[in-house]
Amino acid sequence: MSVEFKAVSRSAFAALAVLAVTACAPSGVSYNKDVQPILTKNCSECHAPGKEGFVASGLDSTSYQALMKGGKFGPLVKPGDALTSALNMLVEGRAHASIRMPHGREKLPDRDIETLKVWVNEGAKNN
Ligand code: HEC
Repeated sequence: MSVEFKAVSRSAFAALAVLAVTACAPSGVSYNKDVQPILTKNCSECHAPGKEGFVASGLDSTSYQALMKGGKFGPLVKPGDALTSALNMLVEGRAHASIRMPHGREKLPDRDIETLKVWVNEGAKNN
């Protein structure tokens, strides 16, 4: 085995170990520090009382309580289940393409989509 190969496989192993650890440990995603800033930046200019998204859907994304209440189409977040939560389906583009959110804009960065997913899967806590 060449020295180079050993070095490569060792760093690959280190990367795998890091992945394994992050997959098991709680992620540390926080509603207040991570999730609300994403919503404020990407959703709240339309989804706040009186704004077009709120008028159309009833969704107010400016606070935890309002977000968890959902809109006139029902709850947006099912704690523990990002797969069927409308919030995740919309930002991931898994709902119909015409209603991907943010409305008429670029998709969110993968990092933000992942943060929302982890937060919902960890119970959508107000933390
Ligand atoms: C530029 C304004 C705008 C932005 C930004 C925006 N929305 Fe919307 N949203 C709308 C409008 C308008 C509707 C009404 C439905 C439609 O016309 O697609 C809507 C509808 C919705 C609905 C109801 C969908 C349905 O029909 O079931 C949800 C949920 C929603 N938005 C979530 C979000 C989230 C989450 C974000 C941020 C990632 C976001 N929106 C960003 C304007 C916006």
